[in-house]
Amino acid sequence: MADGVWAVLVAAGRGERLGDERPKAFARLGELPLLAEPLRRLDESEWVDAVVVVAPPEWEEPAILVAEQIGASKVIAAVPGGDSRSASVRAGLAEVPDDAAVVLVHDAARPLLPPDLVPRLLEALAEGYDGAVPALPLADTVKRVRGGVVVETLARDELVAVQTPQAFVASVLRQAAAGEGSDCASLVEAAGGRVKIVPGDERLLKVTTPADLQRVESWL
Ligand code: CTP
Ligand code: MG
Repeated sequence: MADGVWAVLVAAGRGERLGDERPKAFARLGELPLLAEPLRRLDESEWVDAVVVVAPPEWEEPAILVAEQIGASKVIAAVPGGDSRSASVRAGLAEVPDDAAVVLVHDAARPLLPPDLVPRLLEALAEGYDGAVPALPLADTVKRVRGGVVVETLARDELVAVQTPQAFVASVLRQAAAGEGSDCASLVEAAGGRVKIVPGDERLLKVTTPADLQRVESWL
């Protein structure tokens, strides 16, 4: 890992389900925009060398101002995102130098990054995996459904719900990143990469609705 761990913080979504007048990353969490919390936590991680923020188009400058306000000194760039999460990841990756060893991709919508998670992910890469993702077991039974009718019931002991940050060998993610998927690991998997699951964390709840934002606020 000699050439550095780069974090790409994807914050370019519109936040339609949250329904704030601003993009989700700029909705208030306490006194500051939501973005401030995950950015500070990545910046404070001793394992992270540099951070690229992917902001909603025309929100790059406000994103830099947030970084300055919280004293996040590892932020190298804020770039505009794309129409999909995968396009936003590609925009962030374009700012990551070729000699970076590891890329961590994190959703700004998951503000409460616990400090012990990043080393857990990096450990899996050190074991030789192409990627590592945090995941939680499912509490509910999951069924595949078509047209409102059950097609099959899936084996719950084989299923997990994945979170971010997701860590990858930088060259592997770069090669896989051309595709579209709801997370980065699915692209690496499709390219034949081996992705290790590490224990996730309930606090990494993704802020989707106003109730999620309130829950995260109450956990702070
Ligand atoms: N994201 C992004 N660029 C996009 C879409 C999503 O950077 N074009 C980011 C979001 O900012 C978020 C993460 O990907 O941090 C997960 O996306 P999601 O929770 O779906 O956020 P939004 O797309 O903003 O919300 P919604 O789907 O309700 O509009
Ligand atoms: Mg979305």
